[in-house]
Amino acid sequence: MRRAVIAGSGSAIPPRRVTNDMLARIMDTSDAWIRERSGVEARHYVEPGTATSDLGAQAARQALEAAGVSARDVDLVVFATMTPDHYFPGAGALLQAKLGLHDVPCFDIRQQCVGFLYGLQLADAHIRSGMARTALLVGAEVHTGFMPYSAANWEHLYDASRSGPTPEEYAWNTRFRHLTVLFGDGGAAVVLKAADDDGGRGVLDHALHTDGAEYDKLYVPGTGFKHRPYVDAAQLQRGDHIPSMDGRAVFKMATSRMVEVAREVLERNRVAVGDLSMVLMHQANKRINEHCQKALGLPDEKVPHNIHKYGNTTAATIPLLWDECVRERRIRPGDLVLLVAFGAGMSWGATLLRA
Ligand code: ACO
Repeated sequence: MRRAVIAGSGSAIPPRRVTNDMLARIMDTSDAWIRERSGVEARHYVEPGTATSDLGAQAARQALEAAGVSARDVDLVVFATMTPDHYFPGAGALLQAKLGLHDVPCFDIRQQCVGFLYGLQLADAHIRSGMARTALLVGAEVHTGFMPYSAANWEHLYDASRSGPTPEEYAWNTRFRHLTVLFGDGGAAVVLKAADDDGGRGVLDHALHTDGAEYDKLYVPGTGFKHRPYVDAAQLQRGDHIPSMDGRAVFKMATSRMVEVAREVLERNRVAVGDLSMVLMHQANKRINEHCQKALGLPDEKVPHNIHKYGNTTAATIPLLWDECVRERRIRPGDLVLLVAFGAGMSWGATLLRA
């Protein structure tokens, strides 16, 4: 049976590391609050001018090298991001040019934190059907464009000796603190290759779901084509270009849906929790993942985290964690791995695969 095997992976983390204490320079927050509520200790930010497609291209080059595949062999690109370089075209087209790929089909998909799993299903379907043999799947985000800080506040964030925010700026930055402190920039990529009989390795099954009834618990209220013009000064003044999140509602939905979808895939494939070598969960909040780990009865060593280092990198979290585990040999060829995620939409999903 033909399956899609992850043949290589790569990551791109920008060099600028921002701690919780640094964020507390420009808004009312604290290292203790952020650590305790989310598990985030630091995140990395790009410098102005570095875009999502740049992180994607850097990660993709590493993934191609790890897979021993030439850029010219890639016959499909799937780019998952909610923070593309431009409103259009998508980041996939920019990646194609940056990597010098053939003029292959390049999909951009917008499933936010579940983008990587939706992309994996899409690439897997192309490979199983014979429509592609070597797919490049990228998840990358530059969230710093969502951050509401003035240029002077950015300077103070990086250098405490520069002048700090005015009381109005401090209040404005604080208004978005429940959201901004969670996110970081980053990218990761995998190369999927068609394998006809590789000892049962490859993607085995997926379950993907979406329920849009509560989309407004996590969304960007403005800068959309519901408005005419789609962006104007009034929207920016109101902060409608910054995501709006009902954190408690999202937390509750994430904990129930992630457990449900994990069980759905395991039961359908008659896999017991004890058969799994590793479970990689989307890194939105360490507390969400601890809840899911407990509900599923998983031991600590099977549930790796890196949210403390990078925060939530949306479409990049799962491939970043995958790449880290493979490089540290915590995931080895033949291991049975479950990937699980929940995000805006609301969308959620799980993928079972043999590494
Ligand atoms: N620093 C200090 N205090 C804060 C901060 C902050 N950064 N943020 C909020 N608070 C305050 C609030 O104002 C509130 O104060 P009050 O009690 O005086 O009103 C208090 O802390 C508690 O706020 P809650 O929002 O109730 O805190 P909670 O424990 O729910 O944690 C959090 C908030 C971390 C956002 C949590 O709800 C969460 O992680 N939710 C899920 C996030 C998520 O999974 N998002 C999906 C992925 S993103 C995607 O798909 C694109």
